[in-house]
Amino acid sequence: MPRPPAQWKWGHYLEIASAGSDPQAARHTEGMSKLADLRKSYEQDELDEDLAANEPLSQFKTWLEQALASQVPEPNAMTLASVGADGKPSTRIVLIKDCDARGIVWYTNYDSRKGRELRANPFAALQFHWVELERVVRIEGSVERVPEAESDTYFQSRPLDSRLGAWASPQSQVISSRAVLVGNAAKAAAQYGLHPPRPPHWGGFLLRPERWEFWQGRKSRLHDRISYRLEDGQWLKERLAP
Ligand SMILES: Cc1cc2nc3c(=O)[nH]c(=O)nc-3n(C[C@H](O)[C@H](O)[C@H](O)COP(=O)(O)O)c2cc1C
Repeated sequence: MPRPPAQWKWGHYLEIASAGSDPQAARHTEGMSKLADLRKSYEQDELDEDLAANEPLSQFKTWLEQALASQVPEPNAMTLASVGADGKPSTRIVLIKDCDARGIVWYTNYDSRKGRELRANPFAALQFHWVELERVVRIEGSVERVPEAESDTYFQSRPLDSRLGAWASPQSQVISSRAVLVGNAAKAAAQYGLHPPRPPHWGGFLLRPERWEFWQGRKSRLHDRISYRLEDGQWLKERLAP
């Protein structure tokens, strides 16, 4: 029997083993083996613990500004993880709207799934993945509502359709059809015209960071990971193994 090519992987053998018996399984295995072979080398930049800022917020601002300047798609989109009262985690994407010495701010419906989860368990994790820059930022901490006046100011800065949309969508609830949303939006428009007030169930959340991590992809999977955690009110900067 001829020797198989040296670059063959486990998936190729599986494919052959299953091909005779079950063609559907063979197709499945073929797809999976291609998936398993997808990989890239990360070589764009590095992050050294001596060069990383001493304050994580300033490191974050540098990377966020670079992401904005590089015109990566949706540089302001972050994954938000919350944990329900049942101890089960869930994630979704939200947009960062502010970051300052207090922490990271985003806006949402307080009665949504995430809103309810954050009320029951006011801790969250955020994650940015700037694919083109081969960078990830992770932020963890406690969560609270921003002051009402801050939510009002931001709400009034939004385009009219977004302001009406906040009234129209009972976010995360089951609805019978899209017509419900369109109908709700029309009702809100008729009621509030050009000046919808901020709905009481809509506003900002602030995450006060307790832990940050900055990940920069490197060659041969020897990535740079610089973490910051609070110790006695001071940020402790440490390198983590990749
Ligand atoms: C790029 C992007 C940005 C989003 N930004 C927000 C946001 O800022 N606030 C928000 O409530 N939902 C936002 N969403 C929708 C959420 O991902 C999610 O569908 C919604 O908040 C309901 O989540 P929940 O049921 O877990 O509460 C965004 C989705 C995408 C893809």
